[in-house]
Amino acid sequence: MVVGGGVVGLSAAWRAAREGAAVTVIDPDPGGGASYAAAGMLAPVSEVTYTEESLLRLGVDSLARWPGFAAELTEDSGDDLDLRSAGTLDVAFGADDLAALGELAEFMAKLDLPVERLTGRECRRLEPLLAPSVRGGILAPGDSWVNPRRVTRALLTALSRLGVPVVRRRVAEVVVAGGTVQGVRLGGPGGPASGGVRPGRAPLLLQDSGEAPETIPAEQVVLAAGAWTGSLPGVPDGVLPPVRPVKGQIMRLRTPYPALTRCVRGTVHGSPVYLVPRGDGEVVLGATQEEMGFDTRVTAGGLWEILRDARELVPGVTEWEVTDVVAGLRPGTPDNLPAIGPTALPGLLVASGHHRGGVLLAPLTADLVVRLLAGETIVDHPCSPSRFEESSR
Ligand code: GLY
Repeated sequence: MVVGGGVVGLSAAWRAAREGAAVTVIDPDPGGGASYAAAGMLAPVSEVTYTEESLLRLGVDSLARWPGFAAELTEDSGDDLDLRSAGTLDVAFGADDLAALGELAEFMAKLDLPVERLTGRECRRLEPLLAPSVRGGILAPGDSWVNPRRVTRALLTALSRLGVPVVRRRVAEVVVAGGTVQGVRLGGPGGPASGGVRPGRAPLLLQDSGEAPETIPAEQVVLAAGAWTGSLPGVPDGVLPPVRPVKGQIMRLRTPYPALTRCVRGTVHGSPVYLVPRGDGEVVLGATQEEMGFDTRVTAGGLWEILRDARELVPGVTEWEVTDVVAGLRPGTPDNLPAIGPTALPGLLVASGHHRGGVLLAPLTADLVVRLLAGETIVDHPCSPSRFEESSR
């Protein structure tokens, strides 16, 4: 049983079902929450940060799995995911941003990352809509991106074709007896585990709330409930990893002409912003990073911050039509690495805590979950949820 129908839970369910496992997914709004908000950058190289080399290696590993994952998902669903591989251009606005970019380029060189340092003029040659004030950049040609809304829709179609039930209910509690997981007890169709609000619902309704039994037994439960993972009732204290919500506001714009050919990231006086172009003319601008608990309100200040910085890098953004604004909750952990693996409670596995990288890390996570469900022990993995138990001793 997979609790959570975001990109991570649905990917794990799909891969497990493909391997012949009997799978059920529980989520009141599959494809909603953080996966619905996400821009879909598959950008481990341009998103590298100084203290997070383990995360970089995981991201590079998962990025390499994306083409095969996408091809098989398209085969199973018939859907095009808009997977693009034209790279990320990371640009600097002010002199302070350029200095920081220079230091980052040196760090990337030490890590042997395949990047290219560019002048402002070279950046504008690649992306003519960039402002004359852009001072320089780093091109990460291997970075890619995908449309997460298409991915979750394709996963739901693929699951439907494999006969996997997706139960649109929230989980009230995990049922534990004799020291092992027995299944889950269901709550109402919405509620605290609903993962945020979004306009429209996914088209699939494989089992409506009236048909689903109140308790669903399961030999193994994979908890992929995103920001809600740390607080599932019924699980003994200390078993769940410390996952917290990190709010991200994000907006979608429509351009009347092809605007950008690459993902463009940048810093404007230290404030990060990104622009992710789609094949259909959409450009996604993101994102805030806020420690606001489970608040998913879209605020004027959040949107202003994104637009203010995006306009400095690409002045034309203010001409484009706004089509969507949304706030999602990234599942953050203390070390920014996900928690993937068994917990101290037999039968309960976790696949969560992916923070800013859920879409990127979905193929790797799904492959790990399939191996774990098959009984494999993965030793010394950086994502083991037990690292939190050890550090708290
Ligand atoms: N990965 C981009 C974000 O979380 O905003």
